[in-house]
Amino acid sequence: MRVGFWQFDVEFGQVERNLARVADALAEADADLIVLPEFFATGYLFTSRGELAELAEPYPGGRTMRTLSQIAAEREMTIVAGFAERDGDAFYNSAAVIGPDGPCGLYRKVHLFNDEKLHFSPGGGPLPIIDVAGVKVGVMICFDWYFPEAARTLAIKGAQVICHPSNLVLPWCPDAMPIRALENRVFTVTCNRIGVDIRGDKRLSFIGQSIIAGPDGRTIHRASPDQAELFVADIDPAEALDKAITRRNDALADRRPDVYELR
Ligand code: ACM
Repeated sequence: MRVGFWQFDVEFGQVERNLARVADALAEADADLIVLPEFFATGYLFTSRGELAELAEPYPGGRTMRTLSQIAAEREMTIVAGFAERDGDAFYNSAAVIGPDGPCGLYRKVHLFNDEKLHFSPGGGPLPIIDVAGVKVGVMICFDWYFPEAARTLAIKGAQVICHPSNLVLPWCPDAMPIRALENRVFTVTCNRIGVDIRGDKRLSFIGQSIIAGPDGRTIHRASPDQAELFVADIDPAEALDKAITRRNDALADRRPDVYELR
């Protein structure tokens, strides 16, 4: 299976231009599964619900989903992309899965980061698993990485590849993802953006370093902090079905939920 990401410098509010950047990049991509950043079409730094009302889109009916559906059909690929979702009066930080036959999965970010809490409603789950050509693909978004329960939940549900649209600003995630991959014995594909959102007196820099990690904790590829990059790797998702750590240890079967005090 060929999995990858398109790391680029999203321009706030320039939906047409950002969609065109994706269409151009993916025209070159020989991939089965591509991950795009969180909020890849709108930018990240919303300063009011009014802005969100203008830029957020319904799932699956909006223009962003239509454009991604066209690309996925033409390229015969599946795309996992973060977007600002409007559902009635509520806004969600969401990720959609779009296959060659159109939108086929939705996830609303459960762990909202910092000022996202001012504008967005938290998702209530579940963390989704989507079948992509016989491979179980899970989805989480950016700050979900900080809560190992998210990736663990996806692994327990059978995820072989965890897709992770991101807009990272804190420095730690690119180092943490190989550990998320190792502790769950899965592949992870984190797609971050680069560049800066400047909105009035607010400014956020994004750290790039999109990363693909393997079930043994290896880094398959880590992008630069500041360059746009389309990257695709050949992986064997069957590797993620083997949870053995030693002859007598299994990453999932050896868990002791009877001992953990997780509530
Ligand atoms: C983040 O969750 N966008 C940091």
